[in-house]
Amino acid sequence: MLALLQVLAAQALGPVPVGFFTGKRRTVVAIGIATRGRLAADHVAVACFEDEATPPEHLPAKLAEAVSAIATRPGWRGRDGQTGELQIPSPSPDRDQVVSLWGLGRRDRLERSRLCDWLDGVASRARTNGARRVAVVLPDHPEVRDAATARHLSRDLLLSEYRFDRFRQGSDVAQPKLGKVLLLPPPGGDALYRSQLPRSRATATAVARARDLANAPPNEATPRWLAERAAELAAGHGFRHSRLDVPDLEARRMGGILAVGRGSRQPPCLLRLERGDRGPIVALVGKGVTFDSGGLSIKSARGMVSMKYDKAGACTVLAAALAAAELDLPIRLRVYLPLAENMVGGDSFRPGDVIRCFNGRTVEIVNTDAEGRLLLADAMAWAVDEGAEHLVELSTLTGGVVAALGYFGAALFTPDETLAAGLLAAAEEAGEKLWRMPLWPEFSATVRGNHADLKNSAGRPASAATAAAFLASFVGGLKSWAHLDIAGTAQVAGNGPASGFGTALLVDWLHRLAEDGEPAC
Ligand code: BES
Ligand code: MN
Ligand code: ZN
Repeated sequence: MLALLQVLAAQALGPVPVGFFTGKRRTVVAIGIATRGRLAADHVAVACFEDEATPPEHLPAKLAEAVSAIATRPGWRGRDGQTGELQIPSPSPDRDQVVSLWGLGRRDRLERSRLCDWLDGVASRARTNGARRVAVVLPDHPEVRDAATARHLSRDLLLSEYRFDRFRQGSDVAQPKLGKVLLLPPPGGDALYRSQLPRSRATATAVARARDLANAPPNEATPRWLAERAAELAAGHGFRHSRLDVPDLEARRMGGILAVGRGSRQPPCLLRLERGDRGPIVALVGKGVTFDSGGLSIKSARGMVSMKYDKAGACTVLAAALAAAELDLPIRLRVYLPLAENMVGGDSFRPGDVIRCFNGRTVEIVNTDAEGRLLLADAMAWAVDEGAEHLVELSTLTGGVVAALGYFGAALFTPDETLAAGLLAAAEEAGEKLWRMPLWPEFSATVRGNHADLKNSAGRPASAATAAAFLASFVGGLKSWAHLDIAGTAQVAGNGPASGFGTALLVDWLHRLAEDGEPAC
């Protein structure tokens, strides 16, 4: 009876759907929180620390025996990376249960990233062994009892079967293997783990969405297509939406978006979403260049390869906003997505052109490949004009940030200490690396124009910082604004698929804001 209650008490967390706009909703991984008792799974993974032979206290007896059997093998120390496995007869007749023991190294050295790597390893081992249900016995350690860790681990597990494979066919389509993961928290940790599930789920869904959209190829994902997908999703989440097309952009004198879009057969547009009637007014802005050829200042063949990801900022802020809606955060949220394709054509904007942006600032074009800031200029100026109290903008803006931080972290530029602290804390919580860079007046001087107020590029030196300084001219008197340059982190390892970077940190930041009405902790 007790065992049955315990099984019932294991609270399942639904699967994360991916491939959502193909109509092929697919179950990925469901996770649940197990309570102490029988762990019904094909594979049970247990962690232990170096030179601590005793099995974790919260293990059911049969598993404890199996763990002891592995831990007493000659040579077992529980060293970082050491693993052992044992098959035990399981309750299900068709398959034995595999118990694996994983050394995490010294207890006093445990970090969250080590736990994430461990779960990654568990998931791939279980997948290789053909297990569909996996139970994970989390070690008893203060790091494991941390709410942000609980969220991060669940989020990673939910995403562990994420694939972007809607263009693959037949045997190329990898079948999802892991069906369900049961987490057994350390003693007393059940409530904590259970309470974090809704946030983990909303965040994992958002990351999957951001990836799905950013991975979409540029012949499909035109500005119009992206605006339509975003509007559909937004409408399903209680947002009001409106779209400015070329005539509207002209009427509002949004010369930046218009200039970038001119060379393409696909017209540019600006999508605006709004939701919520209480709490701070937060504007999220995302660069949505569906393909960046560089325009007349054309990129090299190599430099163009990954330019479908130049819409990652827009995809990320959209996905995070949808998550905020799912969590019903008390925030007056406004999302601005300037969408354009930067192409070469008979009507392309040119080096030498002078354009006028929404806030009246004139910009001399010196390089048509510095297009992101032109789109953002209009969108940010509009957001401020509409009364944003905080503005956070994400963009794959410069190769300079790749030179500075590689594929490991994004750059944060903001003049506001409170906002900086809030975003850095949220990034830390979300397990995404963010590093603050300066907005010195010297950088602003480099983007002063010769024949207009500004020029759109100051060349290579400190290009991430000079781009940020350019953007600073479009926020008027608003101090609580931030620019995150995600050029290095938008793709996994710089050349892989979309990472969804920034989604989790934005969700965590919005959550903090909702909790204290202030952008910091
Ligand atoms: N979309 C690119 C930035 C980029 C580069 C993203 C590499 C991802 C990987 C952006 O529009 C761009 O071309 N920036 C130029 C600016 C320069 C002309 C001032 C750059 O950084 O080279
Ligand atoms: Mn460019
Ligand atoms: Zn670009």
